Amino acid sequence: MLNAIGLQNVGIDAFIQKKVPFLRSINTPAIANFFGYTPDEYAELASRLDAIPEVAALEVNISCPNVKQGGIVFGTDPGCAASVVTACRAATKKTLIVKLSPNVTDIVEMAQACEGAGADALSVINTLTGMAIDLERRRPVLANVTGGLSGPAIKPIALRMVWQVARAVKVPVIGIGGIMSATDALEFILAGATAVQVGTASFVNPSAAQEIAEGMEQWLAARGIVDIKSLIGALEG
Ligand SMILES: Cc1cc2nc3c(=O)[nH]c(=O)nc-3n(C[C@H](O)[C@H](O)[C@H](O)COP(=O)(O)O)c2cc1C
Repeated sequence: MLNAIGLQNVGIDAFIQKKVPFLRSINTPAIANFFGYTPDEYAELASRLDAIPEVAALEVNISCPNVKQGGIVFGTDPGCAASVVTACRAATKKTLIVKLSPNVTDIVEMAQACEGAGADALSVINTLTGMAIDLERRRPVLANVTGGLSGPAIKPIALRMVWQVARAVKVPVIGIGGIMSATDALEFILAGATAVQVGTASFVNPSAAQEIAEGMEQWLAARGIVDIKSLIGALEG
């Protein structure tokens, strides 16, 4: 999938008024993903999310332009990324997950900068910057010209980055990128992920996450593996 939907959302006030009551009605821990355009804005959101009992943990999206530094994406510079994480860390006692951008030369440098600034866990990876062209019209397909690439096409890159990051940090890594099946998810666990997320697959099949979780349980049971923790980072060779 190549998307340029931006980061539309209802905003923190409407989230508290309209979405949180729904979270109260379900028996599942919820993680809130958020972003800002300055470290102060990130900190303000972290602090407001911290005060919501229905929010179990915070995931900070650092793939966002820093308007105070010429629009450089926070997640592509270790110093900028660390400044966001430091600001959020001071604003919340809840579990703080930092979601890394893959659009960098050295993902390990970014991971270590975020860990050093107080991240409790790292999500790896966000979308890769891509582009599509309409040949006959000689125009970009997306009005925004570029967009975020996700789904099976990015799985090998995501696996490689999870593997690199998991070996280089002490905090847990959450694997994301092109997970369509239980076997995809288990490959991420072998590469070093402690948990996984499912994005694009949910657009194809809204029940994908549940089916993947069930498929993982079946795969483990069929092989007599009692605890999935024994597979984390257990890649051989
Ligand atoms: C339509 C769409 C919207 C997304 N919006 C966000 C977002 O708001 N914040 C964020 O951190 N990641 C966002 N992502 C990135 C996904 O969470 C995920 O990191 C990425 O798509 C790779 O996983 P996947 O291949 O399973 O989709 C979005 C992805 C898609 C396809």
